Amino acid sequence: MTPRACWDWACERTGLDRVWDALMARHIPEARGPVAWFYALGSATLFVFTLQAVTGALLAMNYVPSPDHAYDSVRFIGSQVLFGRFIRGLHHWGASAMVILVALHMLRVYFMAAYKYPREATWIVGVTLFTLVMGFSFTGYLLPWDQKAYWATMVGTSIAGQTPVIGPYMSKVLLGGAEMGAATMTRFYALHVLVLPMVTAAALGAHLFLVVWHGISEPPRRKEQGS
Ligand code: HEM
Repeated sequence: MTPRACWDWACERTGLDRVWDALMARHIPEARGPVAWFYALGSATLFVFTLQAVTGALLAMNYVPSPDHAYDSVRFIGSQVLFGRFIRGLHHWGASAMVILVALHMLRVYFMAAYKYPREATWIVGVTLFTLVMGFSFTGYLLPWDQKAYWATMVGTSIAGQTPVIGPYMSKVLLGGAEMGAATMTRFYALHVLVLPMVTAAALGAHLFLVVWHGISEPPRRKEQGS
């Protein structure tokens, strides 16, 4: 059986060729010069998100989410684990890159008016993704359990606690009690590696489906005189 015959066999049974055409052979707007690069910001965010998922999974193989061992396990990753320092570095800088890229992607969508009809739902799902990215940053920051992590989370949860009406409940739910401790770490870890990735994967699926379904918007053009 030739590779071509194998491909035809699979396509007839799964519709793979149509999925391929929808994803890879779709129309991309013609943008020249630096403007063309703005269209790569969403894909760049997607790339860094994938990198974070892979490096995060590798880190989780040696990280211990408990106040007694978290700090030492992070030091262990940095000093003893093969490529540990490199992988932690990628995850650390990847987190910052993700925030910067998602903000730039959002700005390009805004300034090119790509959020307008019919792409409002893509924008709304995008806002959810933005909130989720912030959630990853906030929950991940605590995990090394060093002074910076501890006090930054203390400040963050105190700010959440100042929200009118629901503030005290929010801070209690985040901390897992009245004070920061083992329960806070367990909660943040569960959010960081379970809840947020699952919700983000679902939101990303919806976002990318909408992007492919609508097609990418054309760059805005100056209105011709008289038209
Ligand atoms: C995890 C975060 C995100 C990822 C991975 C992501 C990914 C993508 C990709 C790959 C595209 C197509 C290529 C492009 O236009 O750059 C896209 C388009 C789009 N994104 Fe995002 N995005 C994210 C967050 C956001 C946010 C925060 C917003 C706005 C609040 C947003 C709104 C949109 C819109 C409206 C489009 C359609 C643009 C057009 O048709 O020209 N996205 N996104």
